[in-house]
Amino acid sequence: MTLAQLLEERLRSAVREAGFDDEARGRVSVTQAADLRFGDYQSNAAMVLAKGAGRNPRELAEELAGATAVDGLAEMEIAGPGFLNFRVLPAAFAERAGALLGDERLGVGLVEEARTIVVDFSAPNIAKPMHVGHIRSTIIGDALARVARFLGHRVVTDNHVGDWGTQFGMVIWAWKRELDRAAIEADPLAELLRLYRVANAACKKDDAIREECREELVRLQQGEPGNLEIWEECVRLSRNGLEKIYDRLKVGFDHWLGESCYNERLAGVVDSLLESGQARESQGAVCVFSDGAAREEQDPFRIRKDGEWQDNPMIIRKSDGGFNYSTSDVATIDYRLETFGADAIWYVVDHRQTLHFRQLFALAARRGVQADLNHVAFGTILGKDGKPLKTRSGDLPQLDDVLDDAVEAARRTAEERSRLETAAEKDELAELIGISAVKFTELSHHRMSDYVFDLEKMVATEGDTAPYLQNSYVRCRSIFRKIEGEAALTGEDLVLEADAEIHLARMLVRFGETVPVVLDDFRPNLLANYLLELARSYHSFYEACPVLKSDGAVRRTRLVLCELTARILRKGLGLLGIEVPERM
Ligand code: ARG
Repeated sequence: MTLAQLLEERLRSAVREAGFDDEARGRVSVTQAADLRFGDYQSNAAMVLAKGAGRNPRELAEELAGATAVDGLAEMEIAGPGFLNFRVLPAAFAERAGALLGDERLGVGLVEEARTIVVDFSAPNIAKPMHVGHIRSTIIGDALARVARFLGHRVVTDNHVGDWGTQFGMVIWAWKRELDRAAIEADPLAELLRLYRVANAACKKDDAIREECREELVRLQQGEPGNLEIWEECVRLSRNGLEKIYDRLKVGFDHWLGESCYNERLAGVVDSLLESGQARESQGAVCVFSDGAAREEQDPFRIRKDGEWQDNPMIIRKSDGGFNYSTSDVATIDYRLETFGADAIWYVVDHRQTLHFRQLFALAARRGVQADLNHVAFGTILGKDGKPLKTRSGDLPQLDDVLDDAVEAARRTAEERSRLETAAEKDELAELIGISAVKFTELSHHRMSDYVFDLEKMVATEGDTAPYLQNSYVRCRSIFRKIEGEAALTGEDLVLEADAEIHLARMLVRFGETVPVVLDDFRPNLLANYLLELARSYHSFYEACPVLKSDGAVRRTRLVLCELTARILRKGLGLLGIEVPERM
């Protein structure tokens, strides 16, 4: 149980004694105080309850403060109109921090109700550029999956790659004319992209070629063996190329069920929606329209244009008879419910697809789907000019190049300060820091905010960066290299006296309160920012409190604080998909 939960439980007992019923008690909560000057935790219970009971909030606060059993745990104060503030006693922090030493989970509880959660993330489109938008999805999705797993949920990760779509008409057309065999073996993603661009450019110039590409697509969709073979090879080669990037990022998937896996189901999906009346024909296409249940402002199937409300249908079969992205997403939901027994599906996809998901989820609700469907949206990565990040030639930057640039930047800073000896060690460290820097920058921002991609800043050892945290970890660990062979640490009878010690213990104990809230609104940045704060309190402690030069209980306490800081930094970064080096 976290401190917040414990205090809440105590406060609720006092609320019962004061004569309130279960419903009222349910409204009592204790949260971390926004400002430490007012204590560690606070509750507005007295104000909330006084209202309904026609009582004076300050008086009720006095009564509750008197009746809450916090001896040995915290001191209570009343502030303002009736806030209850809790200041946790150093001895209580010492006891809790000491207990973490023997706790593998470092104070993070398991969820009471484990759910089966499908996390749909990364999902680049085959033979099209995998760009920085996919990097955000990959990093955020991976972190959320790791956190959910650690909290005890059953997590299924699925890379819903775009392996079926109009781009294949163009790629097949170019494949038949322009394929460079050597290039496709060496770098499949780059060669496929080149083919796509060649065809794309040709289509723009010449309508006859556009028509040829369309015919290649139709032949593929009709299952012509030659085109099917080329498509299969494209998918296989792309997957090889993508796996290399994922290996680099240390991101893995339980499944790669791309759009094409659902082809067989699409006709059935459309038929059943027609039959149930959820969809109907319109101008040769099959569409889902509003059912009128929601207010127009909230109805994803209505849109305001030219001063009036108009239909904004979701097309599930095009007028040429072809199925689309939406059709396969409907089929995918059914598959995930049947096959995985999903209680929730999280779609980590950029915010420009918000309307698609609103329509998809509204239709699912109409079809009686019970699972929680969440669109975990995110914003844009900006260049230093404040506009969406682009390469010098104006293209969207490729993920692999972005990673290479980050590793290069990391190498430059590592050259300056690294204590490592060999070139191989330096290479390895540069790769680790470069990738970590990209991931941490992503995860330390709120997912909806746009951020500027500034390599130098990301790899700096000072600042809100991965290297700053990794460096803090290395610092903690280096202390223990100096005392190898000493008796093992124990967490009993710690004494916290200096402010810096107390504050560091407070931060360590908060780890268990921080990890679960990441899932409340899909915000890994809460964990990332917690880790920065932890590291900052460690640095202040390190400045103020000599560790190896102290002795007795003081020394032991400080060593335990160092050890726990290292463990929590490693674990917390691990939950974000970031590794720590032992030296740097
Ligand atoms: N391939 C899509 C894109 O790059 C993302 C797919 C997301 N997942 C889904 N089930 N729609 O835009």
